Amino acid sequence: MTQRIAVIPGDGIGLEVTWAARQVLEAVTIKHKIDLVYDEFDWSCQRYAAAGEMMPADAIERLRPYDAILLGAVGWPGVPDHVSLWGLLIPIRRAFRQYVNLRPIRVFEGVRSPLRDAEPGAVDFVVIRENVEGEYSEIGGRLNRGFPDEFAVQEAVFTRPGVTRIARFAFELAGTRGSYVTSATKSNGIVHTLPFWDEVVAGVAADFPEVRTDSEHIDALAAKLVLDPGRFDVIVASNLFGDILSDLAAAVAGSIGIAPSANLDPTRTYPSMFEPVHGSAPDIAGHGVANPIGAVWSAALMLEHLGHAAAAADVMAAIEESLMAPDTRTRDLGGTGDTASVVSSLVALLG
Ligand code: NAI
Ligand code: MG
Repeated sequence: MTQRIAVIPGDGIGLEVTWAARQVLEAVTIKHKIDLVYDEFDWSCQRYAAAGEMMPADAIERLRPYDAILLGAVGWPGVPDHVSLWGLLIPIRRAFRQYVNLRPIRVFEGVRSPLRDAEPGAVDFVVIRENVEGEYSEIGGRLNRGFPDEFAVQEAVFTRPGVTRIARFAFELAGTRGSYVTSATKSNGIVHTLPFWDEVVAGVAADFPEVRTDSEHIDALAAKLVLDPGRFDVIVASNLFGDILSDLAAAVAGSIGIAPSANLDPTRTYPSMFEPVHGSAPDIAGHGVANPIGAVWSAALMLEHLGHAAAAADVMAAIEESLMAPDTRTRDLGGTGDTASVVSSLVALLG
């Protein structure tokens, strides 16, 4: 069976790490006799500069037939970040109902966490971020522009179906892991939406008596993530809280360069999208030193989603092995390697 992958390298190091992920996919799919075909799309800030749009008007229609989307990173100086985000990433996430943003976090052997007590193997959790509603809403506006009494209003949107399905996904996932869910809230300060979130999450939790549940305020949770990251298994959070927590968690794991993410439509009606957590890193783009592990791990999540669990496990084993030696670790991890040497190592390990 042929599966079709839409590849959007995007901007900056997005191109470098997508190239890396493609090399690794090539090696592992040959080994496992998996038939993937790829089409590349040049949708990016460069395209915006030339054509006035991040992607063409029929972009969503063109992506719809694919089995998955592999994305590098979008964003570049000169194009406002809200243009690149709302012109590409967010429309794809929303049109394809990718309501789960799944971000695994692990401290690997050979990678030093900035936290003294974060031992390799002990830190292994997943942040499940609600990906299509919540605080990232288009509802609101600005009034009295330019006057001293100018103001802005933005509404957060929390729906019963939206909160129920993200909570259910988190509890089902916890059932396959450590059977422990932490729900991020702030129902003491945000008095309408987050008490509602708490209620709906508690309702879902009742259906999973074998899964332990804690509800933690986001500020205290952020502190605990730094002080004791080993205690977490699955953290479920709204769109904004999940965004912040997962970047913090990626830093706890040693570098944002290794953090992967999956934007999932669990109903499989639409293609899901896989991308590293990091951005286009203009400060290092073009130097060939970008850490490709975040993109490669994202490709492993894609393989798993496409039903190739053994191939995904092989990629993870290669990542673990490669991170142990300083010459196959990139500079952000204190190594002496570059993008190409990490790729050669991964490809050799998968040969
Ligand atoms: P960034 O993630 O691009 O970079 C932050 C810092 O981490 C930089 O010092 C960078 O060199 C380093 N870094 C990031 N990825 C790395 C890797 N793979 N290997 C080694 N070092 C790495 O975030 P920043 O600078 O805030 O954003 C740059 C652009 O990327 C902006 O236009 C932003 O909007 C966009 N962006 C896009 C995202 C996406 O496509 N999902 C996510 C985050 C930012
Ligand atoms: Mg973020």
